[in-house]
Amino acid sequence: MESLRFILPQSEIPGHWYNVAADLPNPPPPPLGPDGKPVNPEQMGAIFPAAILEQEMSSERWIPIPQEVREIYRLWRPSPLVRAARLEAMLGTPAKIYYKYEGVSPAGSHKPNTAVPQAYYNRQAGIRRLTTETGAGQWGCSLALAGQMFGIDVRVYMVKVSYEQKPYRRSMMRAWGAEVFASPSEMTQTGRDALAREPNHPGSLGLAISEAVEEAASRADTNYALGSVLNHVALHQTIIGQEAKKQFEMAGDWPDAVFAPCGGGSSFAGMAFPFYADNAAGGHKGKMVQLVAVEPSSCPSLTKGQYAYDFGDSSGFTPMMKMYTLGHNFTPPSIHAGGLRYHGASPLVSQLYHEGLIEVVAVPQLATFEAGVMFARAEGVIPAPESCHAIRAAIDEALRCKQTGEARTLLFNLTGHGHFDMSSYDRYFAGELEDFEYPREAIQESLRHLPDLA
Ligand SMILES: Cc1ncc(COP(=O)(O)O)c(C=O)c1O
Repeated sequence: MESLRFILPQSEIPGHWYNVAADLPNPPPPPLGPDGKPVNPEQMGAIFPAAILEQEMSSERWIPIPQEVREIYRLWRPSPLVRAARLEAMLGTPAKIYYKYEGVSPAGSHKPNTAVPQAYYNRQAGIRRLTTETGAGQWGCSLALAGQMFGIDVRVYMVKVSYEQKPYRRSMMRAWGAEVFASPSEMTQTGRDALAREPNHPGSLGLAISEAVEEAASRADTNYALGSVLNHVALHQTIIGQEAKKQFEMAGDWPDAVFAPCGGGSSFAGMAFPFYADNAAGGHKGKMVQLVAVEPSSCPSLTKGQYAYDFGDSSGFTPMMKMYTLGHNFTPPSIHAGGLRYHGASPLVSQLYHEGLIEVVAVPQLATFEAGVMFARAEGVIPAPESCHAIRAAIDEALRCKQTGEARTLLFNLTGHGHFDMSSYDRYFAGELEDFEYPREAIQESLRHLPDLA
């Protein structure tokens, strides 16, 4: 019988993270402070430990993974690479489809890959308390889990729509010892202001980030941790793509195209950057891999946003980063892929897109659930709504291959399972979900509020 699952021994858990900054054609534009000048590590030191800031600014290609972190990775890594042969048969495509399954982590997604090192470096720096935001709840769960492992108290501001859609994500965070509040909350000035403006505010990742940063910046005993967007988060996720490359060697195959969902961009970065390293060096055995980030058409930061300096949060507490953005005040519609409702995209992913080195597609909500259900019926795993975006794009490419007869090899990042997203599936089955195409004029209006750097 042909093998469908490619499992690495634990000795193959990567020993280093891969830093794409070393292989970019141009140096990354620096984050800027309120005065329009590049921020220095001391300014960021109020909310991040020095080791994380060093990684954020590093241009070293390989950064060693501390042994303590690798020991925790051992609880679920290496994650499996699986050939989706039943999906291929269902589609009747000559394409080969593989997925890398990150849902095997205790929290159910790729997010613990960075939560663990972030908690570790904070604990090394003597920090005992962390604040954060969460959209889908996957990141909040992951930091709650990692905080628990290193004796750190965690407080999570959870975007209000997700707080209401996903009660068991709250329970999970509490099981791992974290406190959880719906954002906007009454706990911070940012939250109180948002509620005064709009009492039924659905929340957004940008707003929840402001709440978490506001609290961390105002307390000496508290740091802040971010689950995506920043360079060090993208860095930590590169163990996904590194493992996938070894697994493709085991399988005697190699992808032609790689797909990942794109919210803040870390799951795409984690999967795609190690393949980009080969592209930058002329290809793997001369073969270039097509790298495709998949975003929701209701929150199309890369495909409809502007490449400009903007804040990472809605209140403008963070440094300004050069990224594709819809404007930091943009409140995306209440789609069910809560982890993709972010106004911007990782500066590294943005730069690669701007320089034409990766591709981006935007897909509507209903089509992503349709793809997720097809995948669940063929392969068994019920995917998270965010992951369904990558599945949609991979299925579309497999169907295109069916038309042309091309036997391409496709890989996607199955970033998480959907076990706590079943109310979203129920609403899809009941015909209650809609597609939202964000009007260009509304985006233009939001972009008018970009910081003025003149
Ligand atoms: C399951 C899942 N996949 C993908 C994403 C998007 O992640 P990123 O911000 O890394 O692009 C999230 C974010 O919460 C998620 O929970």
